[in-house]
Amino acid sequence: MIETSVALAEEICVHSRGRSGAVINAAFRKAESFLMDRERIDVPTVRGLFRSSTFLLAEEDGAVIGCVQVELRGERSYLGLLSVDPGCQKAGLGSKLMTAAEQYCAKAGSRFMDLRIVNVRKELPDFYRRRGYVITGTAPFTPGLNPKLPCHFVNMSKPLT
Ligand SMILES: CC(C)(COP(=O)(O)OP(=O)(O)OC[C@H]1O[C@@H](n2cnc3c(N)ncnc32)[C@H](O)[C@@H]1OP(=O)(O)O)[C@@H](O)C(=O)NCCC(=O)NCCS
Repeated sequence: MIETSVALAEEICVHSRGRSGAVINAAFRKAESFLMDRERIDVPTVRGLFRSSTFLLAEEDGAVIGCVQVELRGERSYLGLLSVDPGCQKAGLGSKLMTAAEQYCAKAGSRFMDLRIVNVRKELPDFYRRRGYVITGTAPFTPGLNPKLPCHFVNMSKPLT
């Protein structure tokens, strides 16, 4: 697991040496094509995120097969873009990335981790509940993205101590 750099933005969102394509878009394409026609993210957006966030990577034989974004926001931190290559899922890697993200933020002084999910992803609340998160509220979906179904965000949080 390493901290990434701007040079890796392409690798985690459009080109990849990983198994099934750049990890973020491959993971979200598999999970959310019923909801969105567009790719989850592009290189300029990831480059923008590098200004405020750190990406933790899971690598195998030099290929990125998983990643997670963390943004330190003082007492609270934010976890986003948790992605595991579709060919590597259900083997514990997503959980390892979550733990690494939580440890990274706790070490930096944060006491809570926040994340958000889309309400129509029925499997995600239990996935995060099993990892200590509880629902704390809702928020409107990102304007202008034109999802195929009506949806909104569900916010979840976990104490890091
Ligand atoms: C969500 C996501 C990151 C999970 O990644 P993952 O690597 O499959 O996660 P894990 O393997 O740690 O856990 C998933 C399930 O696999 C199973 N599993 C984990 N390790 C296993 C193993 N060694 N053998 C068999 N099954 C296993 C478990 O059922 C586990 O769920 P549970 O512990 O809650 O019961 C992945 O599905 C993904 O990239 N999805 C698309 C992007 C996305 O939706 N991100 C989250 C947006 S909020």
